[in-house]
Amino acid sequence: MREAEIVCWEALDPVSAEMQQARHLYESTLDEAERIPWLWIEKAVTSRATWRPGRWSPHLLLSARRRRSRLPGPVAGFAYGMHLPGYGGYACYLGVEPRFRGQGIGSRLMSLLVRVLQVDAACEGVHLPFVVVESHEPDAPESTKDSALWQARLRLFRRVGARHLSGLTFRAPNFMRRSAGPVPLQLFLIPVDKPAETFDGAALRGVAAGLLQHVYGRSERDPLYRETLPPDCRPALEVLAPSRNGAIALERHPQSSGSP
Ligand SMILES: CC(C)(COP(=O)(O)OP(=O)(O)OC[C@H]1O[C@@H](n2cnc3c(N)ncnc32)[C@H](O)[C@@H]1OP(=O)(O)O)[C@@H](O)C(=O)NCCC(=O)NCCS
Repeated sequence: MREAEIVCWEALDPVSAEMQQARHLYESTLDEAERIPWLWIEKAVTSRATWRPGRWSPHLLLSARRRRSRLPGPVAGFAYGMHLPGYGGYACYLGVEPRFRGQGIGSRLMSLLVRVLQVDAACEGVHLPFVVVESHEPDAPESTKDSALWQARLRLFRRVGARHLSGLTFRAPNFMRRSAGPVPLQLFLIPVDKPAETFDGAALRGVAAGLLQHVYGRSERDPLYRETLPPDCRPALEVLAPSRNGAIALERHPQSSGSP
């Protein structure tokens, strides 16, 4: 599909047919453990009109094929993310309807989100150092379906310039089932206005710690914080490179004591 055939825009009306389509995509493309309640996203869309610098700046971006009338068709993909003042960008959710996958919609939405978050940073009068992305590695990597999906994610991250933050497993609370254990996630970083080479171990610890503190409200004394960032963890930024068989595998550095 040519770039010009895909169009993207920001959802600004929480009560609309396109929001219902986005909700359906959100709930059908992402596992429950990875999601937050849709109502939170709806509230974020409602809050756009009153957003001012200094606050979290969330965006729900939508994508569709352009119709002959030049207007967008039904929603085929969404990306949700936000700028966190004093921290950076956080790409939370991304999903594309199965029949529209592999046509560049996911990469286009993610790249657009980075640009929108750069505008938020500019509104604050600062640069955007990075955008961080969380992703849950499949529990059953031997399943063909799970492995294809994981490869699609990794290839998309690679295409938008993301690197893997190796050496730690991020522990996020399960918002949909509070009684369930934490969700283990891998972190990926898109360096934006700060060169990738400047993200050393201390800076990367700061990225993970900032996510725990700003987004999840966890202090250094919290078990999730200690499990994510045990004193001996040594995070590093790894390029996502395909191996000879074309698949991308994550670098496995010595596991820290907080990892399973
Ligand atoms: C991951 C996802 C968003 C990708 O969306 P998409 O529109 O297909 O992505 P793109 O077309 O931009 O393709 C991105 C890369 O993935 C590759 N890809 C797409 N589908 C693939 C598949 N089934 N197997 C392997 N690679 C695949 C593309 O070839 C491309 O890689 P390339 O640049 O090396 O050619 C989509 O598969 C999806 O919605 N999955 C379910 C939800 C999800 O996993 N969200 C991400 C959470 S972090």
